[in-house]
Amino acid sequence: MSSDVIREKIVRKGAEANLYYGYWFDKEVIFKYRIPKKYRIEELDKIIRTTRTLNEARALIKVKNYGINVPQVFEIDPNNSTIVMKYIQGNKLKDILTRLDDFKKRHYFKKIGHIIALLHKNGHVHGDITTSNIIITNNEDIFLIDFGLHEYSDMIEDKSVDLHLLKRVLISSHGSDYEICFKAFLEGYSSEYQQYNPNECNEIIKNIDVIESRGRYVSSEDRL
Ligand SMILES: Nc1ncnc2c1ncn2[C@@H]1O[C@H](COP(=O)(O)OP(=O)(O)O)[C@@H](O)[C@H]1O
Ligand SMILES: [Mg+2]
Repeated sequence: MSSDVIREKIVRKGAEANLYYGYWFDKEVIFKYRIPKKYRIEELDKIIRTTRTLNEARALIKVKNYGINVPQVFEIDPNNSTIVMKYIQGNKLKDILTRLDDFKKRHYFKKIGHIIALLHKNGHVHGDITTSNIIITNNEDIFLIDFGLHEYSDMIEDKSVDLHLLKRVLISSHGSDYEICFKAFLEGYSSEYQQYNPNECNEIIKNIDVIESRGRYVSSEDRL
């Protein structure tokens, strides 16, 4: 590794990836390194890690075109299943949500709804919309991160599942804020998606309850 590329400290040891903060030339970056899994056959493990690395990097690059704030990708190293991306300075929404006043909660979740509708109407499903995967910068910009479970889909079901996950996360981690936040989210989502396809928008939202009634959800960490 070049001396211009420095991994300074580990930010997170995840189930699938380790994240390091450091420098890539003069840029502050995050290295997202997908770790080998002993329980998989080695060759297969390599293929899975490479594919997921490429899928995530491509998704980040692609969705930037819709004007969505995501970390810029500086380098992709498929052989080492690593993405080098811009470090986004800010706070995870998960960590600051309770401290926000109701006006701000509504404001952010409306905007997040708008962002997710933009993704969906362009055929992208994020796959892991949680308050840990949203960063609010000091300028109050909203960044969406972690496209590790991203998929291309035009299916109502897949889009509903995306929204349903956020609903579950809000209920389980932010119970007292759930109602105000999810309502604002759906308002933002609808106002963007309705213009594109009102019937489909209604179907997607109605289908959240159908998924709910099936009663079994698979958490993101179990989907590995
Ligand atoms: N580009 C980034 N800028 C700043 N922090 C980041 C960035 N990417 C990831 N992180 C931090 O690392 C954590 C884990 O990254 P993430 O991509 O969500 O991987 P995981 O699959 O482990 O959830 C995030 O919750 C966030 O705190
Ligand atoms: Mg994450």
